[in-house]
Amino acid sequence: MREISLHIMDIAQNSISAGAKNIYIEVYENINENILKVTIIDDGKGIDSDILDNVTDPFVTSRKTRKVGLGLSLFEAACKRCDGGLSVKSKLGEGTEVTAILKYDHIDRAPIGRISDTIVSLILSGDIDIKYKHRVNDKIFEFDTKEIKKTVGDDIKEPEILRWIKEYIDEGIKNIDGGVWE
Ligand SMILES: Nc1ncnc2c1ncn2[C@@H]1O[C@H](COP(=O)(O)OP(=O)(O)OP(=O)(O)O)[C@@H](O)[C@H]1O
Ligand SMILES: [Mg+2]
Repeated sequence: MREISLHIMDIAQNSISAGAKNIYIEVYENINENILKVTIIDDGKGIDSDILDNVTDPFVTSRKTRKVGLGLSLFEAACKRCDGGLSVKSKLGEGTEVTAILKYDHIDRAPIGRISDTIVSLILSGDIDIKYKHRVNDKIFEFDTKEIKKTVGDDIKEPEILRWIKEYIDEGIKNIDGGVWE
């Protein structure tokens, strides 16, 4: 079982490959309605309509190094296994939106995992801004690299700052009783 945070990493990596400058990630633990919803929105180059139609097919990829692309198909499989699904909306030149839905208490639903690790890796992997929102029912935790950069500027990639960011996110999610540690 692949943790949700690792699926998010894969999807956001696609955004970086697509030249995104901003990535918005939302994890919504709607426990009241028994739904886990993950949304990833980027402002990258978007997906051609001929690719978009079959984008979750593993044999659809713009990769040059191998003929299969697994990020979206693996996440979709994980969603379907949990009575949910995955959808991709995209506009060329504007960006892409991936929405994943899983039944929250499904026995096969992977743990959310360490979101803080995912965000720190993303900060290190490009010149991008990341906005993160985590909801547990009506409680909300938010994080935005743009806010951090107002104080620390380019030092955001310094190990000390990244350590602080990691703790801040872990604490923030824990405080809204998010499923990071489950
Ligand atoms: N956010 C995005 N912006 C633009 N194109 C995208 C985006 N996400 C996916 N794509 C397109 O869809 C294809 C399939 O994506 P997917 O993540 O499933 O596989 P991959 O990235 O090609 O390979 P892998 O994820 O295994 O490294 C990509 O090759 C790319 O052409
Ligand atoms: Mg990919």
